[in-house]
Amino acid sequence: MTEIVRDRIDVALTVNGEPVEARVPAGQHLIDFLRLELGLTGAHASCEHGVCGACTIRVDGDAVRGCLMLAAQADGAEVWTVEGLTDTGEIADLQAAFVARNALQCGFCTPGMLVAAQELLARGGAPSRGEIREHLSGNYCRCTGYEAIVDAVEAVAMARAGAAAQEGGGGA
Ligand code: FES
Ligand code: FES
Repeated sequence: MTEIVRDRIDVALTVNGEPVEARVPAGQHLIDFLRLELGLTGAHASCEHGVCGACTIRVDGDAVRGCLMLAAQADGAEVWTVEGLTDTGEIADLQAAFVARNALQCGFCTPGMLVAAQELLARGGAPSRGEIREHLSGNYCRCTGYEAIVDAVEAVAMARAGAAAQEGGGGA
C-alpha cells in the first residue's frame, strides 16, 4: 500500500523486470526518477511538458510520457525503458533497422521513437506508412530524419508480418 511520509511517498514497482522500492518526492516525475535515481538515462527529459516524446517509456504495456507521470503514480506498475527492451532483445530488429536505414543522427529522439514504434508493431500486422507516421507523430526528431525513421519502422513491420505469416503457414 502507498505510504505517504510528509512530502515523500513509498512506491514499489518493477523496472525492466526488476523489483524496485523507493521513497520518492511527491512531485517527482517518473522520467526523473528513472534517470536520476535509477541511472536509466536512455529515455530523455527534454520539453518536460508532454510535447516532444523524448521521454517515452512503457508503463503497464502502453507507451507513455515519463514527464507527464509522477513516480508516485507508478506504484505497482510494470515499467520498461529502452535499456530493458534492449536487454531482452525485444527491439533488436528495430534497432538494427534504424542503424541500417540511417534513421538516427544525433540519436536524441531515438529511445522514444523505438519505444513508440514497438508499441505500434506489437499490435501485429503491417501498418501503412501513414499509420506509422500517425503513431509517431508525437515524437519529434530535431534532426528531422522522419523519412528514414518511417523507412526503418516499415521495414521491420513487413519483416515481422512476413515471419508471422510463415509461422502461421508452417504446417501447410
Ligand atoms: S520530455 Fe516528455 S514529452 Fe518532451
Ligand atoms: S536523430 Fe537527432 S533528434 Fe532525432
